[in-house]
Amino acid sequence: MGGNFFEKVCNKSGLAPSNLRHQAKKPERTKNMLEDFKITTPLVRLNGFAGNEAYIKLEGSNLYGSAKDRCAIYVLTKLLEEGAITRDTEIVESSSGNMGVALAAVGARLGLKITIMIDESISKLNEFLITSFGANTVKITEADENGSYLKARLRTVREYIESHEDVYWFNQYGNPLVIEAYRETVGKEIAQQMPDADYVFVAISSGGTIAGISQAMAKYGQGIKVVAVDLEGSKIFDPNTKAIKHLTGIGSSIRSDNVQRAVFDDHIVIDEPSSIQALYDMLQKEQLFLGGSSGCVVAGAERYMQEHGLQGKKIVLVSHDRGDRYFNNLYSKYFG
Ligand SMILES: Cc1ncc(COP(=O)(O)O)c(C=O)c1O
Repeated sequence: MGGNFFEKVCNKSGLAPSNLRHQAKKPERTKNMLEDFKITTPLVRLNGFAGNEAYIKLEGSNLYGSAKDRCAIYVLTKLLEEGAITRDTEIVESSSGNMGVALAAVGARLGLKITIMIDESISKLNEFLITSFGANTVKITEADENGSYLKARLRTVREYIESHEDVYWFNQYGNPLVIEAYRETVGKEIAQQMPDADYVFVAISSGGTIAGISQAMAKYGQGIKVVAVDLEGSKIFDPNTKAIKHLTGIGSSIRSDNVQRAVFDDHIVIDEPSSIQALYDMLQKEQLFLGGSSGCVVAGAERYMQEHGLQGKKIVLVSHDRGDRYFNNLYSKYFG
């Protein structure tokens, strides 16, 4: 379909994929940059949730498709406004997922040079988006002993920083500004939309989202409890695990600085089949097309409430992204 489509329609009119490459221009604006990106994501009531009133916060409704947009927008605009970086500073980050897409898009709108360390496991769609939005990429091809590219990507970032000038490492794994970003955006928004919630369930990986949302619940949310949801195979709660995981965005091979800074109330670890079953349930019973970590969060919240005998509570589930980006793996059974 892809090749045929271009042959039938686009090539004739001179629109070839190579022509889509973005030519970054530096926008004139320096003030009120946040206004460009003002967005509130929906909080949707689920039809049924085992005796509890559950709502799902759809972060996939952000401009570039994930919760990571919040972080890229908040941190980059703050750094520019405070003069910690200039329009000539090169922003570097390690990501084969949503953070890379968000930084590439937001960085382009702000006129910043963005370089993303990706790895060969990156989906074609994410690589297409990152490069089409105008970011440079450095691709890592050697996995570490756990089959993960994370450590190799981080090593490459460090080498890059040492050999280049005027570079800022965004560092979602350790930058305290990342935590502040989630606290002041999605975290504050949840507290305002659901001030009487009892629990918030959040996926954990590099740790920024849960750390920020936990801070927001303490600051704005009158003690709403926060539960981290992780995937079997992650080393965050089980450093010696040998389990292999396949979902992306969740299931970290390191316990990052931002994970260590996160102060949440409890955690639960969920297996992959339960996460994927929860995704299909959301699709068919709730008409929600969600990304893999969201399946983990839904399954985790359900199990947590059942195991603790909790009924009649108001709970919020944070969904990081939509299913579109995973149609050819998580949802492949529907696409042949
Ligand atoms: C889809 C998805 N879910 C969950 C997470 C976890 O968020 P954090 O890295 O802030 O812990 C990420 C992070 O990349 C993600 O992309």
